[in-house]
Amino acid sequence: MSRVAYVNGRYLPHRKATVHVEDRGYQFADGVYEVCEIRDQRIIDERRHMERLQRSLKEVRIQLPMSLRALSVVLHETVRRNHVCNGIVYLQITRGVARRDFTFPSSTTTPSVVVTARNLDRAGGEKTAHNGIVVATMPDQRWARVDIKSVSLLPNVLAKQAAKDQGAREAWLVDDRGFVTEGGSSNAWIVTDQGKLVTRPTDHDILRGITRTVLLDVIAAEGLELEERPFTVEEAYAEREAFVSSASQIVMPVIRIDGRNIGTGKPGPIALALRRTFHRKAEFS
Ligand code: PDD
Repeated sequence: MSRVAYVNGRYLPHRKATVHVEDRGYQFADGVYEVCEIRDQRIIDERRHMERLQRSLKEVRIQLPMSLRALSVVLHETVRRNHVCNGIVYLQITRGVARRDFTFPSSTTTPSVVVTARNLDRAGGEKTAHNGIVVATMPDQRWARVDIKSVSLLPNVLAKQAAKDQGAREAWLVDDRGFVTEGGSSNAWIVTDQGKLVTRPTDHDILRGITRTVLLDVIAAEGLELEERPFTVEEAYAEREAFVSSASQIVMPVIRIDGRNIGTGKPGPIALALRRTFHRKAEFS
């Protein structure tokens, strides 16, 4: 089955889907993105992802070059044309193509819009969740506005590769004071010995994950206790459970951090229960 990508108004065969060498996304990482889960051919939490997209665009002063309604049609059409049943849809908007100059190009420059979609192995994801994943901690070397979902991801790439080199699936980024900020491409959570869920509050130090936001509703509905506060790596080592959340991984139990078993060294019951119930509070479109 041949893949198709949406590039600036056209649906192209994947191998022909290219942007210009002077696209500012390519030269300056001057752009933002979103990733939504596709489940049973439906887009999960599209409304919330589009709200976050608008916020990111506003913060970096890029104008959405089409209506949200048209963008929604493109997202769904890209999912349909790629026959995605379970997977992800990726949307990227950059400041467009212009002669390389640090300051913004003229206001006539149209932002570039790219959408791709692909299937992910849902059964494989369930198996990974059943086994749990391993995490390695790395210094958080990102800029001070990671609440903007910018395509500038070099520190995340390097941290995740360093984690992979150590046999870990995700990197947990740690700030100068020893507190975990978030994962390289996920939000970080622990469950205390008293059964309280702990995750870092949303300020400029983490991405306000959509999965995280929906999980807050799930947690409230299940009557679980939540503490939004920073936690240290040492606390994470010692607590009962740990997990990560993201659109592509939903809730993924963490069984080991830096070689230390978390709890029993098996996926925790709270993480697994949240994974099972997550989609009851998610929106399907
Ligand atoms: N990553 N934190 C970071 C740094 C992320 O890159 C992501 C998402 C999240 C979780 O956000 P959400 O729940 O909205 O997916 C947190 C996406 C999936 C990615 O880059 O592939």
